[in-house]
Amino acid sequence: MTAEALRLSPRAAQLQPTAVNQILAEVRRALAQGVDVVSLMRGEPDFRTPPHICEAAIRALGSGRTSYPDNRGELKLREAVAEKLARDNGLAYDPGTEILVTTGATLGIHAALLALIGDGDEVLLPDPIYDAYQSPILLAGGRSRPVRSSIEDGRFVVTRQALEAAITPASRVLLLNTPWNPVGTVLRDGELHAIADVAARRNLIVISDEIYETIIYDGRRHVSPAALSPDMRQRTVVVNSLSKTYAMPGWRVGYCAAPEPIVSAMFLVLQQSSRGPATFVQDAAAVALTGPQACVEEMRGEYARRRGVVAEALAGLPRARVLQPEGGFFSMVDARATGIPSNDIRRRLLLDHGVVVAHGSAYGPGGEGTLRVSFASGGDNLARGLARLREGLAAL
Ligand SMILES: Cc1ncc(COP(=O)(O)O)c(C=O)c1O
Repeated sequence: MTAEALRLSPRAAQLQPTAVNQILAEVRRALAQGVDVVSLMRGEPDFRTPPHICEAAIRALGSGRTSYPDNRGELKLREAVAEKLARDNGLAYDPGTEILVTTGATLGIHAALLALIGDGDEVLLPDPIYDAYQSPILLAGGRSRPVRSSIEDGRFVVTRQALEAAITPASRVLLLNTPWNPVGTVLRDGELHAIADVAARRNLIVISDEIYETIIYDGRRHVSPAALSPDMRQRTVVVNSLSKTYAMPGWRVGYCAAPEPIVSAMFLVLQQSSRGPATFVQDAAAVALTGPQACVEEMRGEYARRRGVVAEALAGLPRARVLQPEGGFFSMVDARATGIPSNDIRRRLLLDHGVVVAHGSAYGPGGEGTLRVSFASGGDNLARGLARLREGLAAL
């Protein structure tokens, strides 16, 4: 039967596969045709989860921690999140009422959007940005409203003027991601204060996705928008996850912090679709957040090294230049000088040179002319991928 005959939900019909899933479908076709492929696309750390975290999960399993979890999140984990937020972000949240454990940042963003926006409300999104924000906005009945970015001094920025220009009476939420996927910008104090000023004057709620907060370079500092002022703490939902920081993407565990009324609404939303991560996973997550943090620093150091490898491998190309990321594990290649749409470049790189990257326009029109190159995987994969990428970019 066709989708029409099956009468699928009109809301579901609006949804799009994520960019990564779209590209993967093409990669599978290329593989079936015999193309040999190296991938520099996914944001999946190639590190194994540190042993002390795995051991905590095994201990919890051994002691029978397999029952339904507290749906708000196990208290021990909520307390660990509160400790982490105080230690790393200078933020005080009550683990009883202001913290929610989620199945990854994905569910945190989803619950925040469903709790905050209604039919016709707009969510302001810097353009380009992580494409998986779009569909939950549609599911909540909202619309995304792009905020124009520009490349200044080799970094993507969103100015106060661009933000003001995007706002309409229907704008309700500003979704920020710092460090910012895909572009690698870490928002600076002055930029954040300008945003906070606009948010206060236009009464916006800020959803702040801080999933890359520890992957940050050159002595930069991550500042949570919630930490800027008491007013910002009142109007911010902090969303975070252990996926990237502790190399735990498959464990599906994250958390949110926000004032009590928002967390209560999010908890109601969440109960309808999830009972939270497995109990033994939550025990291990508490150990990750409160245990030794040397593993985080080691991974950060290795990502920093890889960032240098990318810049060196792609240096000196006539019509493509690397924008050095300030955070995260993606380098953007600015290929606007070629005049070729980024999706076409991506296809040529895949089919003619056997290397997979993401096209910038997958993240919004503001990413047109750029390519996102992941160094979440290193070693031989990165070396081989970069050699192919250099050859492909030189041939444009
Ligand atoms: C900006 C951003 N937010 C959220 C996610 C999803 O995170 P999680 O694995 O915690 O669901 C990703 C994953 O790539 C991401 O890049």
